[in-house]
Amino acid sequence: MNDQNTTIDSTQVTLNFTDEAHMLDFAAEAAKQMPMGSVLYLHGDLGMGKTTLSRGLIQGLGHQGAVKSPTYTLVEPYQLTDGQDGKSKQINVYHFDLYRLADPEELEFMGVRDYFDSGAICLVEWPEKGQGVLPHADLDVTITPWQEGRTLSLAASSPVGVKLAEQWLATWQSQNNDTDTE
Ligand SMILES: Nc1ncnc2c1ncn2[C@@H]1O[C@H](COP(=O)(O)OP(=O)(O)OP(=O)(O)O)[C@@H](O)[C@H]1O
Ligand SMILES: [Mg+2]
Repeated sequence: MNDQNTTIDSTQVTLNFTDEAHMLDFAAEAAKQMPMGSVLYLHGDLGMGKTTLSRGLIQGLGHQGAVKSPTYTLVEPYQLTDGQDGKSKQINVYHFDLYRLADPEELEFMGVRDYFDSGAICLVEWPEKGQGVLPHADLDVTITPWQEGRTLSLAASSPVGVKLAEQWLATWQSQNNDTDTE
């Protein structure tokens, strides 16, 4: 998919989660390491946990309310304020779900470049549906079943993605008090 981006082998990371709560605890912490403007593609079959992971990240970024699946609206914006260290900083997040996109051209009509060029963090479910129009990801996250829970496979495609993958691995290791991802 990322024809212009090469996948950097050394930053392919696999993280296992025994259940939803385990993944959400991780997301709450991982959210703190998302630089402005980072683009994450979330891959995985129907019902695999893409919205659940997005919810964890968006709430970890400071959103207090619900995070609904933007299946019908295609995109849901979040304007968050990070009040850490006395200074408040605005964080914009766009959560896309392109499952119902009939044609990638629809993304052009909705001005998708403006969303991605705005410096916001972009989380994209079903990025395959926007192939050819959607800007490239920094990090591809693929969710697959693992025991009763899920595995997240991270593949970085930019320096930002490499850093994210490394930080997420470190977060997973510190939370699980282990140096092994298996
Ligand atoms: N880490 C996890 N371990 C076990 N179950 C999980 C985990 N994450 C999510 N689930 C469960 O998977 C189900 C589907 O989650 P979710 O709606 O997030 O999937 P999705 O990938 O966004 O689906 P869709 O493709 O329809 O958008 C939910 O019932 C949720 O409880
Ligand atoms: Mg979803």
